[in-house]
Amino acid sequence: MIACCLFDLDGVIVDTARYHYLAWASLARELGFEFTPAAGEATKGVSRMASLDIVLRAGGMDNRFSPAEKERLAAEKNARYLAYVASMTPREVLPGAVAFLRDVRAHGVLTVLGSASKNAGTILDRCELRPLFDAVVDGTGVSHPKPDPEVFVKGASAAGVRPENCVVFEDAAAGIEAAARAGMRSVGIGGSPLLAGATMQLDGFEGFTFEMLCREID
Ligand code: BG6
Ligand code: MG
Repeated sequence: MIACCLFDLDGVIVDTARYHYLAWASLARELGFEFTPAAGEATKGVSRMASLDIVLRAGGMDNRFSPAEKERLAAEKNARYLAYVASMTPREVLPGAVAFLRDVRAHGVLTVLGSASKNAGTILDRCELRPLFDAVVDGTGVSHPKPDPEVFVKGASAAGVRPENCVVFEDAAAGIEAAARAGMRSVGIGGSPLLAGATMQLDGFEGFTFEMLCREID
C-alpha cells in the first residue's frame, strides 16, 4: 500500500539541477579551473557545503581555503544560483510533474517535499507549487544531509505515514541511498546509471500515473 509520495525538488519537480551546475561552474572558472557536467553529477542531492568540497576537490583546491573563505565561496555560488531562480516561472516545472502530483493527491495519497535545498521555499513560491504538497521538509529543517535518511524520515513523520508505505522520487544517487536507509521504496528519475539502486526507474513524469506506479512497485 502506498500512502505517501515524497519528492525531491531539484531535478525531479523543477530543472534547477542545471542552475546549480551553472553556478558552480562559473565559480570554478573564476578560481581557474573547469568544472565539467560529469563532475557536477556528484553534487546532486548533496548539501551546499558538501557540494563546495566536491567542486574544490575537482579543481585540486581541497585545502586551499579557510572555513570563513569557504563560507564566502558558498555564498557567492548561492547568489549566482539565486539569480537564475529569480526569473523562474511555473513554466519551468518539469513536464508531467504537476499532473502526476495532482493524480497522486486525487487518490487520497499524501504528497511531501523532501529537499536538501535551503532555497526550496523560494522555488515552490516562484513556481506556484506549494498547494500541491501536504508538508515540506527542506535544507532549513534538517541537520544531516542525504544520503542520511533524515529528510525523508521527517517527511514521513510530518505526514504520519510509516516508511514502508512511502515512495521517494529522486534524481540523485545520494537520495536513492537516503530512501533505502529510511526503509522506503524509491523511483529514480532521469535515467542515470547511478540510480541503479532504486526500486524502479523513470525517465520523467510525462504520461506517468499513480496507477502505473502501483502496478510497478506495489
Ligand atoms: C539539492 C541539490 O537539492 O540541494 C544540490 O540537488 C544542492 O545540488 C542542495 O547543493 C543544496 O541546495 P541549496 O539551494 O541550499 O544551495
Ligand atoms: Mg535532486
